[in-house]
Amino acid sequence: MNSIKDVAHHAGVSVATVSRVLNAKGYVSEETRKKVEQSIRELNYKPNEVARSLFKKQSKTIGLIVPDITNPYFPELARAVEDTASKLGYTVILCNSDGKVEKEQHYLDVLMQKYVDGIIVSSNTLSEDQVNALQIPVVSLDREISKDIPTIVVENSKGARLATQYLRNKGRSRIAHIRGPLAIVNANERCEGYKQIVSNEPWFSESYIVNGNFDMESAIEATMKLIQLHPEIDGIFAANDTMAIGAIKAVHKLGKKTPEDIAIIGFDGISLSKATTPELTTIVQPIYEMGEKAAQMLIGFVEEKPVENTFYRLDVQLVERESS
Ligand code: RIB
Repeated sequence: MNSIKDVAHHAGVSVATVSRVLNAKGYVSEETRKKVEQSIRELNYKPNEVARSLFKKQSKTIGLIVPDITNPYFPELARAVEDTASKLGYTVILCNSDGKVEKEQHYLDVLMQKYVDGIIVSSNTLSEDQVNALQIPVVSLDREISKDIPTIVVENSKGARLATQYLRNKGRSRIAHIRGPLAIVNANERCEGYKQIVSNEPWFSESYIVNGNFDMESAIEATMKLIQLHPEIDGIFAANDTMAIGAIKAVHKLGKKTPEDIAIIGFDGISLSKATTPELTTIVQPIYEMGEKAAQMLIGFVEEKPVENTFYRLDVQLVERESS
């Protein structure tokens, strides 16, 4: 493969001149520029992106770390980040961390070695120190790491209160909650929102809350246990749509009907929630807007543009469908 030296030799100029042409920096006469471009074409020279980013101290690349690419929420979020970054001239490197801090730290190291200009991270295991040690712009998306890190999240507690109150308004009197993982801040906020609505009810006990892992399998198992323990349940608020879909499956497996016997509401508003039977009532997060804002904010930092707001808690809305 030809190098920048081969191009310089072929064009009869110095390496520095070729570099000035490649980076459109510094003076180069029109005649010389044409000669260098001709040599680049004839030698089919491809600049080494790492070398360019070292020279320009900018790679026009950002990293995006998400915990689970098999959960439909994250591909929809990544789509918004990639659309927006691409429009602004940036490439996105997508990393799947399984929500494990050692894997997240590994990806941070790899992204730094690739000279990314900034990183968007959806994580609840990275610490503020780990993020600040990077010395490049970082935006925390969907899950808050600290108030000092630019963040975009949603009204998790409000959405949970909306969901639980909605089930009550639909006449459901024994409402359970399938909560997300204990280590995830938005799962805790949603659980608190649910408890604000039902914890003063005479029937309520913590046994109406079961642990899920934001995935379908854990929700199927949790719902089966929940209904065997509390057959009187007539409403379930699941902390995300994937678990709500699992709950619908479990109710069916137990020979009960949704919503007739048990009304179910989820949280996220993933496209799949419109494809289930019954279609899922859910609390819709502005997923695309979240990814778009995160990419715009991060690239604003990278390009040292004024960024007026570094903390967004975006609103959510209840969308009623057949499962309730
Ligand atoms: O469905 C995945 C969940 O994890 C979503 O609720 C989202 O908020 C993320 O935190």
